[in-house]
Amino acid sequence: MCATKVMVGIPGEDDYAIRIGEGVLDDLGRDVRALPCAAKATRVLLLTDSNVGPLYADRAKASLAAAGFQATDVTIPAGEENKNIQVIAEIWEAMADLALGRDCLVVALGGGVVGDMAGFVAATYMRGVPVIQVPTTLLSMVDSSVGGKTGFNLSAGKNLVGAFKQPAFVCASTDVLATLNEREWSCGLAEIAKSAVIDSDDFFFWLVDNAPALMERSTAAVTEAITRSVVFKANVVAQDKTESKGVRECLNYGHTLAHAVELLSGYGTYSHGHAVAEGMRFAARLGQHLVGTPAELVQEQDALLDALGLPAIEWRTDEAAMLDAMKKDKKARAGNVRFTLPSDVGSWELATVDDERIAAQLREWKAGETA
Ligand code: GLY
Repeated sequence: MCATKVMVGIPGEDDYAIRIGEGVLDDLGRDVRALPCAAKATRVLLLTDSNVGPLYADRAKASLAAAGFQATDVTIPAGEENKNIQVIAEIWEAMADLALGRDCLVVALGGGVVGDMAGFVAATYMRGVPVIQVPTTLLSMVDSSVGGKTGFNLSAGKNLVGAFKQPAFVCASTDVLATLNEREWSCGLAEIAKSAVIDSDDFFFWLVDNAPALMERSTAAVTEAITRSVVFKANVVAQDKTESKGVRECLNYGHTLAHAVELLSGYGTYSHGHAVAEGMRFAARLGQHLVGTPAELVQEQDALLDALGLPAIEWRTDEAAMLDAMKKDKKARAGNVRFTLPSDVGSWELATVDDERIAAQLREWKAGETA
């Protein structure tokens, strides 16, 4: 088996490894046993959901059992609508019923929802136990499993309660991606494209060259894309763990418009990935007015997103409603909307953009000029 290991070193946190490769799920127990925080542990809570559990929980448990862990799985119903305090409380209660102590481990087997909830539970149960992330979607492999953001949704908005909880280990077993549908696949590709534009020419043009291979899910290309994305993200998080220094915001490239599109078109109408891709098209065009984004970047990014199966979306709505949604987003500050804008491939600026400029850009967008 050929696997890649990326180390994440965040000041003030224990270093952790991300292991990426086909079949690394079967080494989970051995890899977890080697962690200092797990040397004496015997009990594991395996948190999964009703989609992923039937496919991969037995494999994860067998690997953990072979390394001497007693793993109990708790399966939550799949879906973002279950990322709430009621389900979190049920997990806490299940852990207490199992008499899990401070020496237990939490293993998150699933996509972003499971990972975020497991991380939050691990951050809070008995004031903190280790969490191991086993992401099973491309999106969670390249984004949410790394960097320690955890939490749940309130009725007022997504991820409004949470904690930073870095994992002790991340196991990205690329073989499990075989069961992902096209929509889930494209969500991951959008975040990879986002990372490539912000990171460097090297990543961006590698992605341009390898877009067809990624569409075909070539193992080599997928492993490389995940590796490049997590190296990029690890570097960003190492500089700004809690998104307080104006660095981690680069990961929000494309997300300002995307959040408004998702909210106003109705969650689920467009996948998060399609919304982010649209947001990248919008932000690059806004960048032409504000930070000198070259026209070549706009064109090359459009072509890349098209090649990754993320075409421009046709849905439009009133610009006042879009602006209002952007102002209410939790990333806005004092009602000011902020965008990550690429001044070139591999360089970016965080810009607070005045309402008139955003409205003008939204009018262009409404007239179809991001297509
Ligand atoms: N997904 C953005 C971040 O982790 O900061």
